Amino acid sequence: MQRKVTKAVFPVAGLGTRFLPATKSVPKEIMTLVDRPLIQYAIDEARAAGIKEFIFVTSRGKSALEDYFDTSPELEASLRKKGKDELLEVLQQTNMESGAIAYIRQHRALGLGHAVWCARRLIADEPFAVILPDDVIAGEKSCLQQMVEAYEETGGCMVAAMEVPPAKASAYGILDIESEDGAKVKVKAMVEKPKAEDAPSNLAVIGRYILTPDVMENLNRMKTGAGGEIQLTDAIADEIEAGRGVYGYRFRGQRFDCGSKAGFLQATVAFGLARPDLREEFSEYLAEMAALKNAAQ
Ligand code: G1P
Repeated sequence: MQRKVTKAVFPVAGLGTRFLPATKSVPKEIMTLVDRPLIQYAIDEARAAGIKEFIFVTSRGKSALEDYFDTSPELEASLRKKGKDELLEVLQQTNMESGAIAYIRQHRALGLGHAVWCARRLIADEPFAVILPDDVIAGEKSCLQQMVEAYEETGGCMVAAMEVPPAKASAYGILDIESEDGAKVKVKAMVEKPKAEDAPSNLAVIGRYILTPDVMENLNRMKTGAGGEIQLTDAIADEIEAGRGVYGYRFRGQRFDCGSKAGFLQATVAFGLARPDLREEFSEYLAEMAALKNAAQ
């Protein structure tokens, strides 16, 4: 029986330069997918997986993110007065229990591993999840929940895994596979952003992790890796070196890379079409667009 995973770290300190000029004043995580900010999808996924404590690793210029999770008494009172109960409910679903959220500043951008390490005192000696909100995953059962269930059997560290085209391996952490058991993959090595020709497989790490507190110990060494940054991938790989289990989990669901413009647009279309209140009008519009494009060819 594994110790329950109730804490999650959300590294949200990045500058979001790929979305400039929008990210000049709006944190990337507040950018909206249909009508909800990216971070809300990450929170909902964590909640569905049983997470009770939410640790945000932030940086300067992210105060909009903190405000987003605060209550909005005036707005709520006004909606109540106008009888707008549905909107009130939508709003209240975003409220977080007092004390459930903590914010920690990453003072210097030293890499994802360093960002996670900043949360070490709040994690203490418990296993914990890490969610990268840029990776949005749609599926019947939340990706993290699927992983929590698999982790109950394996223990150790677990990363979400997905096949990527070989040419894209250099954008990811890549797994070297020892053996496979259904969706679970035993990992014998992992490498951060390898050149395409050096990639040990095309199974990539996607931004969902369940980690043991040992990973924080490994991060204490402040070892720099790919791009001169302190990499989370390396600290997890150290666990394999230490003889402890590391697993990949081939999740069921569709992943969108909302850290890229094309991925964000694809997610917008997919989530728009999945919404009962928008589906009809939106799909008609897309069909018209496709017809116009075909006519022009
Ligand atoms: C990070 C991780 C990488 C992982 C990726 C998933 O990279 O370092 O191992 O494959 O997230 O999205 P980043 O996209 O922050 O460069």
